[in-house]
Amino acid sequence: MRTTPAQAAAVEQSIWTVADLIEACGEMNLDGLFKLDAAKGAATYEPLSSVWQRNDEELLEAMFTFYATIPPEPILDATHNAGRFWKGSAREVVSMDIDPRHKPMIVADNRLMTGVQSKRFGAVIYDPPHVGPQGRDKSRKRFDVDFGATMACGKEHGWSLSYLYPPFLAQAKRVLKPDGLLLAKITDMVNNHKSRWAHCDFMRMAQEAGFTICDLIVKVRVGPMMSNKWKEAHHARKRHCFWIVCRNGDCCERFRA
Ligand SMILES: C[S@@+](CC[C@H](N)C(=O)[O-])C[C@H]1O[C@@H](n2cnc3c(N)ncnc32)[C@H](O)[C@@H]1O
Repeated sequence: MRTTPAQAAAVEQSIWTVADLIEACGEMNLDGLFKLDAAKGAATYEPLSSVWQRNDEELLEAMFTFYATIPPEPILDATHNAGRFWKGSAREVVSMDIDPRHKPMIVADNRLMTGVQSKRFGAVIYDPPHVGPQGRDKSRKRFDVDFGATMACGKEHGWSLSYLYPPFLAQAKRVLKPDGLLLAKITDMVNNHKSRWAHCDFMRMAQEAGFTICDLIVKVRVGPMMSNKWKEAHHARKRHCFWIVCRNGDCCERFRA
């Protein structure tokens, strides 16, 4: 069968795309280089929307499918709480939480991860508290138990919880296998009358810790967090959070067998 000039150009373009990836990711293991269907120019992946309207459990599965270049298991959930992400999941998850009331497999501060083996996990999941202590007097919700809202974020911490991130990131990098995924659910907050951009802090700090920030997915919340302590609003009620996708390696692109 003869190839038309247009088909030859398309094939050459595809070859250059692979060559560019190899150059950009020269340090990566390319055994599983994904196959480009050069002749048809067809995509061989399912797209993932950057705005997610369904639940976290489904999004985590979609992210494992879309981004993982090594098997994601075993997975370390470093802020496990009630383990809502894994209800009905068959994934091999190691649970960690600082609060023993949640009965995690590992009761530990994820900024230390004492006793946890290096390069053990294919993925680390992080869903830290995003507000400081709210009190329990009139609030219907158990912010302290259900959201871990116990960490101080007053003046000494710049009115933000971002100080939690660097020591956690150093440990996440240590316990992840090369090219493993760090998936972090981060919500911005208003504290002491100003917006505190936790997701910007996290992305910057993750990069400083040596991760490659691959993506940012906006997850829409069904019901925004509410407290009857909040008497007035000067900022939009947050109906979203971010899932930040980081790889413990130099390359953003994924490679498939
Ligand atoms: C927002 S909740 C996580 C909810 C969880 N993703 C779920 O689906 O049930 C945050 C959890 O992080 C835990 N936590 C806060 N600081 C921690 C730390 N330094 N190390 C380990 N766990 C921590 C809290 O005890 C709380 O259970």
